[in-house]
Amino acid sequence: MLALMKASPKPAPCKPDSAEEIVGSIALRLDRPVVLVGLMGSGKSAVGRRAAKKLGIEFRDSDQLIVETAGISIAEIFELVGEVKFREMERKTLGKLALASPQIIATGGGAFCHDTTADLLLHHTLTVWLKASPATLLSRIGNTKTRPLLHNGDPLATLTRLDEKRAPFYKKAHVHLDTDGLSTHKAMMALFHALDTHLLRQ
Ligand code: S3P
Repeated sequence: MLALMKASPKPAPCKPDSAEEIVGSIALRLDRPVVLVGLMGSGKSAVGRRAAKKLGIEFRDSDQLIVETAGISIAEIFELVGEVKFREMERKTLGKLALASPQIIATGGGAFCHDTTADLLLHHTLTVWLKASPATLLSRIGNTKTRPLLHNGDPLATLTRLDEKRAPFYKKAHVHLDTDGLSTHKAMMALFHALDTHLLRQ
């Protein structure tokens, strides 16, 4: 019996499986903000808010902060001062957020496609690209009125064009996550697994 017990193989060190174990493992290692990048409708805000709650850290949305500072909507900013000015506001907002304590930050879809903003995020934060097909993005966006870039023409064609144009920028993110077919909860769990794997490798 003793000989048999000695011969049995040691259990392999296991990766955390339950949400609680993964949350604990991430919390131990995370030393910078997690920044979610990707196209409109990719779930940056929905997944980010839920993940932050579970991790017990703050959630910030750069678009939301810009709206609060400007006192007008994103659509109005585009209309009144134009996209170039909006990108400047976005860079300043994310510049401050990037230096903050560990938290989850949702960016506007175009933020990571501007070199100065992308460089500062790549340097100071852990960036995650939430990917989804244009059809999935459109189904999640629903009302396109709040997205100035979708005001003209066929929204699906615009999302397809933006997807092709922006993918080379999003590809620079530290972590890539495919969210097609995933509910918000499943995308959050996939995000936790991807973050944990990335942090364990460092
Ligand atoms: C934009 C995406 C929007 C918002 C603005 C521009 C873009 O944010 O920042 O309308 O360039 O893709 P969401 O990605 O949160 O919709």
